[in-house]
Amino acid sequence: MALYGAAAAVLAGVESRQGSIKGLVYGSRFQNVKQLYALVCETQRYAAVLDAVIASAGLLRAEKKLRPHMAKVLVYELLLGRGFRGGGGRWKALLARHQARLKAELARLKVQRGVSRNEDLLEVGSTPGPAPQIPRFVRVNTLKTCSDDAIDYFKRQGFSYQGRASSLEDLRTLKGKHFLLDPLLPELLVFPAHTDLHEHPLYQAGHLILQDKASCLPAMLLAPAPGSHVLDACAAPGNKTSHLAALLKNQGKIFAFDLDAKRLASMATLLARAGVSCCELAEKDFLAVSPSDPRYSQVQYILLDPSCSGSGMLSRQLEEPGAGTPSKERLHALAGFQQRALCHALTFPSLQRLVYSTCSLCQEENEDVVQGALQKSPGTFRLVPVLPSWPHRGLGTFPGAEHCLRASPETTLTGGFFIAVLERVEVSSSVPQTETLGPELTPSSTRKRKKRRRKPAAGASPPPRT
Ligand SMILES: C[S@@+](CC[C@H](N)C(=O)[O-])C[C@H]1O[C@@H](n2cnc3c(N)ncnc32)[C@H](O)[C@@H]1O
Repeated sequence: MALYGAAAAVLAGVESRQGSIKGLVYGSRFQNVKQLYALVCETQRYAAVLDAVIASAGLLRAEKKLRPHMAKVLVYELLLGRGFRGGGGRWKALLARHQARLKAELARLKVQRGVSRNEDLLEVGSTPGPAPQIPRFVRVNTLKTCSDDAIDYFKRQGFSYQGRASSLEDLRTLKGKHFLLDPLLPELLVFPAHTDLHEHPLYQAGHLILQDKASCLPAMLLAPAPGSHVLDACAAPGNKTSHLAALLKNQGKIFAFDLDAKRLASMATLLARAGVSCCELAEKDFLAVSPSDPRYSQVQYILLDPSCSGSGMLSRQLEEPGAGTPSKERLHALAGFQQRALCHALTFPSLQRLVYSTCSLCQEENEDVVQGALQKSPGTFRLVPVLPSWPHRGLGTFPGAEHCLRASPETTLTGGFFIAVLERVEVSSSVPQTETLGPELTPSSTRKRKKRRRKPAAGASPPPRT
């Protein structure tokens, strides 16, 4: 086996927890184990940098046959390693076509991070060593106040407002009592990492929600229009539900479900404090919620944020060492539930748009779940390409996976997260509606539904691009 193929196979094996780098290198049939080991370790060391460069250069989108692990190895070799002095064959020619763009993206990353040497990128972009500190993100609850009033309040308390940030770099360098508005989310304030606002009167009064930026993306990307019906399938403790209610301006309805009575009780308190009045809470298994129940006949939007391994959550990893690498059995069980929940959600008859999110970094709970659900209902839903300049994309495990978003402390200064936005494929008017809507629908119910199934309104169009 050639060096690059062997390195890609070892990286894939490490990611799917088949063994350690050493074990897999020795287990491979590659003769020069020392050379292979060095290449894999170096590629792994620069993994976050390579992910960011590959994503922003659009390499996997342009080269559909290039698998993500191979891309990582080749881009390492081209930009940071020996420049294919170890051979390269057809891969060398393929990468040569993208060389200028990849080099430009690496240079851009260095400028963005204010560093000049490749090694300096490791301080903020690689695995060993402590993860970068995530700023304190604060969502202004527009059901109770507005950004201007919240900013004035903080200014009166001695904080210094720096305006809207123009890049992630502004967030990374935030210090002392300075604060900013996030460059992407309209109502998100950003403070230095150490800022504790749990006792702050605006937080206590529900005017502010302490919520990581990545966790604000699902509701923002679902973007339900005021007046519409939304289903929040796994809702507790309710931060995303309260965000949805703010986007709806409390007009319309949110049906929120969760299995856990305790979490639902704290959710009820959170929603009351946040002034949410458009939400019906129910202690119920989402899988047992019937899509044909007339109460949900107008549900056009679903948020599915199911239980997951939490492998992207720094706090979980600090509390439970090993939480970042869940066992195969646990992953299998979680992914099974996530897949069932996503397939179930896609059967709601008026559904137009769905956001699937997890705070997991594992492919099994993310890209694989989305791919499986799309394959089970071919031609009915498609992945929506959102936030094209978001630097961290879904792993290129199937065509279109790059439309998904990933997030991590290294690449986006947030917790680890995954988001996919699915949209119903519009039915062409020449196709009889009864065929595409499913056999349970009679012509008369189809007629009624055709009226209800409007496209999400203007407010629901994809949000601003970064
Ligand atoms: C990741 S948390 C949701 C966080 C929530 N969306 C938020 O932003 O605050 C997942 C939730 O799913 C709930 N859950 C797990 N299985 C469920 C099921 N079958 N039906 C409904 N809820 C479920 C768990 O109790 C847990 O509260």
